Amino acid sequence: MPEAFTNQSSAVRRKLVDILDGDNDGPGKLQEIADALHELISHYNWVGFYLALPGTRTLVLGPFAGEPTEHTHIEYGRGICGQAAETRSTFVVKDVSKEDNYLSCSIKVKSEIVVPIFREGTVVGEIDIDSHRRDAFTEADTVFLEELARTAEQLIPIDFP
Ligand code: SME
Repeated sequence: MPEAFTNQSSAVRRKLVDILDGDNDGPGKLQEIADALHELISHYNWVGFYLALPGTRTLVLGPFAGEPTEHTHIEYGRGICGQAAETRSTFVVKDVSKEDNYLSCSIKVKSEIVVPIFREGTVVGEIDIDSHRRDAFTEADTVFLEELARTAEQLIPIDFP
């Protein structure tokens, strides 16, 4: 994918290409992507995939990198993740302390971005990234992560769970 992820460093692009070309299955690749982004992008302090449990309007925590979170199941509408699933749109929160409908994972987290993953128009999951820096996410992060979401769609099992 030579034209992909062009707003990222060559190290990130190379790593993503290696993962996507690798032998792991879909969920294994999602884990590798979470680990790689967490390691290589300094303002990505927690990187996780939530998967939509079909027919339940609930998100379930999938592969992630960073500290464990108590929020393993999130109903549509609750928190940033639930709002992104409900409204089917990317959420960027510059300062989580100013957000009423927010589920805190750690007091260290200052800003967050959540990007829905669609399959044939249905939300099948999300990419969720937390940063310890206030206002850490720019338009470049949105472009990158929406592009990544289009790729990640193919990695979520059709028959999940
Ligand atoms: N902060 C999220 C919950 C998930 S954690 O960030 C890992 C939310 O408000 O939905």
